[in-house]
Amino acid sequence: GRPLAVAIDGPAGAGKSTVAKGVAKRLGIIYVDTGAMYRALALHCMEQGVDLEDGEALAKALDRSGIRLEHGSDGQRVFLGERDVTEEIRREDVGNNASRVSVHPDVREKMVEMQQRIAGSQAVVMDGRDIGTHVLPDATLKVYLTASSLVRAQRRHLELQAKGMERRLDLLVEEIEERDRRDMEREHAPLRQAEDAVLLDASDLDAEQVVERVLSLLERVE
Ligand code: C5P
Repeated sequence: GRPLAVAIDGPAGAGKSTVAKGVAKRLGIIYVDTGAMYRALALHCMEQGVDLEDGEALAKALDRSGIRLEHGSDGQRVFLGERDVTEEIRREDVGNNASRVSVHPDVREKMVEMQQRIAGSQAVVMDGRDIGTHVLPDATLKVYLTASSLVRAQRRHLELQAKGMERRLDLLVEEIEERDRRDMEREHAPLRQAEDAVLLDASDLDAEQVVERVLSLLERVE
């Protein structure tokens, strides 16, 4: 049969990557972070001076970018050709530009193909915005992970504090709601819960509890 696939979608800051990593580790399969692919394209285009509004130019740049994922024991690493950009793509400006390049259908189509190829040959936990709805419509289990915008902003607030970067909580709430709107209102493959996805609200759960929920859901569907 087809390889096992767990699809985890949801808004920014709900804890998708932490949960997806945890589930992948427990199952002994790879974790594929699709946001990192859009981030890598954004970084490449920023460096090459490609117009982020020009879908055709972005699609061409994607073909030439040499974006590649490697999955090892320490998780996913992202490359542009031979250059490891795993850390660099976490930058705030790269994240915001990733959300801009991701609105273009030509770009999404190519990314989806790459993601389907990865999941076609091996078991995966994949997270993103459109995994359950477009990339892996036949996934073994689909989870839509969310949390209130206040809880997500509070987590971001703590993360930034730990890095010595103080930001006002009310502004963080606004930014998160703005990004949700952009991801949910874009025309092509907007963020939404697949009909057959299980809704998990993580507002009152820690990552470990969410991992356990996902694993027990998986036992029921397998
Ligand atoms: O999840 P992450 O913050 O790394 O994703 C960066 C941006 O890439 C998101 O805001 C979203 O606009 C876009 N994205 C997407 N589809 C995915 C994953 C990410 O459109 N499957």
